[in-house]
Amino acid sequence: MCGIIGYIGSRDATPILLESLKKLEYRGYDSSGVAVLDHHPHLIVRKSKGKIKNLEELLCTKPVPFSNLGVSHTRWATHGLPCDENAHPHTDNAHRIAVVHNGIIENYAQLKEKLKRQDCHFVSQTDTEVIAHLISVLYKGDLKTAVYKAIAQLKGAFAIGVISKDHPDLLVAARVGSPLIIGLGDKENYIASDVPAILDRTRRVIYLKDGQVAFLSKDKVEVFTFEGKKVTPKIDTVSFSIGSAQKDGYDHFMLKEIHEQPQVLSAMLKYRLPKGKLKLEGLTVSDEILNSIKKITIVACGTAYHAGLVGKYIIEDMARLMTEVDTSSEFRYRKPIVDKNTLIIAVSQSGETADTLAAVREAKAQGAKVVSICNVIGSSLARESDGVLYTHAGPEIGVASTKAYTAQLMMFYLLGLKLAHTRHAVTPARLKRLVKDLQNIPYLYKGLLKKRSMILKIAEANSHFGCFLYLGRNINYPTALEGALKLKEISYIPAEGYAAGEMKHGPIALIDEYRAVVCVALQSHVYEKMISNIQEIRARKGNVIAIATEGDKEIAHHAHYVIDIPAVEELLTPLLAIIPLQLIAYYIAVKRGNDVDQPRNLAKSVTVE
Ligand code: M6R
Repeated sequence: MCGIIGYIGSRDATPILLESLKKLEYRGYDSSGVAVLDHHPHLIVRKSKGKIKNLEELLCTKPVPFSNLGVSHTRWATHGLPCDENAHPHTDNAHRIAVVHNGIIENYAQLKEKLKRQDCHFVSQTDTEVIAHLISVLYKGDLKTAVYKAIAQLKGAFAIGVISKDHPDLLVAARVGSPLIIGLGDKENYIASDVPAILDRTRRVIYLKDGQVAFLSKDKVEVFTFEGKKVTPKIDTVSFSIGSAQKDGYDHFMLKEIHEQPQVLSAMLKYRLPKGKLKLEGLTVSDEILNSIKKITIVACGTAYHAGLVGKYIIEDMARLMTEVDTSSEFRYRKPIVDKNTLIIAVSQSGETADTLAAVREAKAQGAKVVSICNVIGSSLARESDGVLYTHAGPEIGVASTKAYTAQLMMFYLLGLKLAHTRHAVTPARLKRLVKDLQNIPYLYKGLLKKRSMILKIAEANSHFGCFLYLGRNINYPTALEGALKLKEISYIPAEGYAAGEMKHGPIALIDEYRAVVCVALQSHVYEKMISNIQEIRARKGNVIAIATEGDKEIAHHAHYVIDIPAVEELLTPLLAIIPLQLIAYYIAVKRGNDVDQPRNLAKSVTVE
């Protein structure tokens, strides 16, 4: 993962680098650093463990001089603990070359051994440091040649930014497998891991391609292939804006984003279902193709994968079309059966998840059409897909995904309507009813969110449990998975989601009076089965929190706590059932004093495999 940014121009690099770096913190936040050239010229490096604010504090006590050239980095550790030494930029022993890197150098151990034999002294445990030493040993006075020779020896994924004290007018960038863009300014240029980092400075960007290297001065940008062939890069003018994300009085972005869900869904419906008429702009796949496909394969990771699991139930129910779901990291390595009759749906909030991008490339190579459901406009996934359905949920800052998830669910319902209609899979009357029920969901959210103080009490009363199980059946089995993921990622409490019917096949061994079990037990055709599962938990002294349907009088006899949600058609319940689970996770994490928006070990966007 990690975020990188570089600047060359006439202004002071450091404040520009820091401002842009903060916009990349979603890519990792365990340490950060900056390297600039002073006027001697010397390389001046400052690094600090922890969030970017620690680096800012360090720069106050140990300022760096005015400089027209610099690179900066925010890290998510892959090789080596988060600490000052492992923070980027990394330098060679002569302190001539500084490197920032996003990705993983897979052959770093072999290179390190070789470089040690050439008297290179390593000060970090990172894979990145080998790049600095490698460029240094290959350096014979020409940085460009040394970088060419070095990248020819690197295996794995990398986006790098390189500067040298011998070349105050040169910023070098290269990429394979990790994103890197170039921002074109007025007598100044930038490199960055993504567009938002530089959007308030320039809108003219070059998306560097895999196997390309770029040489930037303040007046010029030249792009070459790794083989040295000059290319004329396409310059894109970015038209989208990044809404500035503020907490608006909420204690955390996550809580704000939970509360934004009614507006997000309401705006989506207004845009996608005006006057009840479906408008799937961006889908780009013709009705003829939608009619002819034999199978849908959904690929995604984490929360987006859970949205995909719900998507399977929706599409199979509404369109009667075989749908499989795979985590992107499994799909890409499992010899998937994909052909021109398969439609791939890739789901990703960020559109930068490395495994999902790799899965999409694999599927496209096998002839499949790819439609992505994506939140970030202009992201790599959006650019690489044949069609893109933007969720327009706005910037999601909390690492734990909430509004992006419900927006992804809503997009699956809309896609389900489209497929059902095109393939004549449901009656017009049912379609009409579904449209009406979907349009009512944002209003139901408002009422549901008003129950937050009751949910807070239940969460606090259960926050001492050391282990949680989440159980659901049918279309709310993925809800259980997502509820468990939310809890574990921000509260650090071990939590597992299971299909309730699987409980007897192993997980029931976990149940005793020290466990909390969250059961999604809504009025549905599997309600009685859920009640039996709850009884089995109670018989083993487990503590039950039930998510039930408003008006259910019976459930209180079975569960210790009941949180009820409005009654809607079973197919639509995942949209509502997840809300209390998001709030339970949030309040437990707050009660435990955790950093809710930036939980330990995680990053908002996972750009390494
Ligand atoms: O950006 P993406 O939707 O592709 O990210 C996928 C996962 O990394 C993400 O959903 C992750 O699981 C979240 N932290 C969950 O809250």
